[in-house]
Amino acid sequence: MANDRSLTHRPRRLRQDRIRGLVSETSLEPSDLIAPIFVDATTDERVSIESMPGHERVPVADAVDRVEEVLETGVEAVMLFGIPTSKDPDGTRAWADDGVVQEATRQITAETDAYVLTDVCLCEYTDHGHCGPLEEALRGSNARAQEHDHDHDHDHGPTLTVDNDATLEALEKIAVSHAEAGADMIAPSGMMDGMVGAIRGALDREGFEHVPIMSYAAKYESAFYGPFRDAADGAPSFGNRRHYQMDPANAREAIREVELDVEQGADVLMVKPALPYLDIVSSLRREFDHPIAAYNVSGEYAMLHAASEKGWLDLEAVAHESLLSIKRAGADLILTYFAEEIARSY
Ligand code: PBG
Repeated sequence: MANDRSLTHRPRRLRQDRIRGLVSETSLEPSDLIAPIFVDATTDERVSIESMPGHERVPVADAVDRVEEVLETGVEAVMLFGIPTSKDPDGTRAWADDGVVQEATRQITAETDAYVLTDVCLCEYTDHGHCGPLEEALRGSNARAQEHDHDHDHDHGPTLTVDNDATLEALEKIAVSHAEAGADMIAPSGMMDGMVGAIRGALDREGFEHVPIMSYAAKYESAFYGPFRDAADGAPSFGNRRHYQMDPANAREAIREVELDVEQGADVLMVKPALPYLDIVSSLRREFDHPIAAYNVSGEYAMLHAASEKGWLDLEAVAHESLLSIKRAGADLILTYFAEEIARSY
């Protein structure tokens, strides 16, 4: 019987079961994902991370096993974060030849086929938890008071915080030490001005011109990093990171930040966090031809887990939908704590 309603356009035609796959615009594959891993030099047993269910800090001796678990799921790349044996004001353990990331990288690259990215930052290595050495005037016992004063008194010159250019020197040393240990890609996350250029120069001088840089190019000062800071023991002991990480209010500034990183030789451009910043992912996708990465951060992971523990959400479904949305917004690769769970479902 003919339908007498003349609807020319019926989008539902393409939503039928056997055609959905053919017309789907976006796909999510295990090969798009990078699994973050925490290697802890202070423990010889795995320690679970309460606010990130299913994730653990693993001792260096377990790093290879941990990476093999990831590879078995079909995920091919890992991002290493380190918890060092000791911390100091300058974060010197970050570039130690026998440092936690250096040791783990050496073992993982010798014994597995994983593609190893290393996070290059100082916040896990400094005793004050900031992403670099502090400016001279902030050093010493009254750091807290001085930072406080400056936050509240904007008439007295620039805010004292991390010493940008001293940090660049440290980042160069860290990046070279990671490359020497065999890191496949270097990922600076500290939001220091000039960090990509400094690291590119140092890697090139030392013969690592083939090692790419994934810049945490548009990294926001976000409250979604909370669980990570527990996991990596990297919370600042005073103040916050708003004087170097980006203001969540700003979108145009992301373009400018990323342009600078592109000029300095960044190979892959990252936006972080992911879900609350999909507008940034999509504008970078339009503006730049580089691969775009997005970091689906610890807080994004923790909130879905918490809701699913209460029985309010279907974890696998919301995780998949979240990551698919990040790809739809324009990301080519995603760093996510869901990497293994998602890959296993393929
Ligand atoms: C800094 C760094 C952070 C994260 C990755 N690298 C924390 C921060 O800036 O405070 C957060 C990742 C996450 O929340 O999953 N080294």
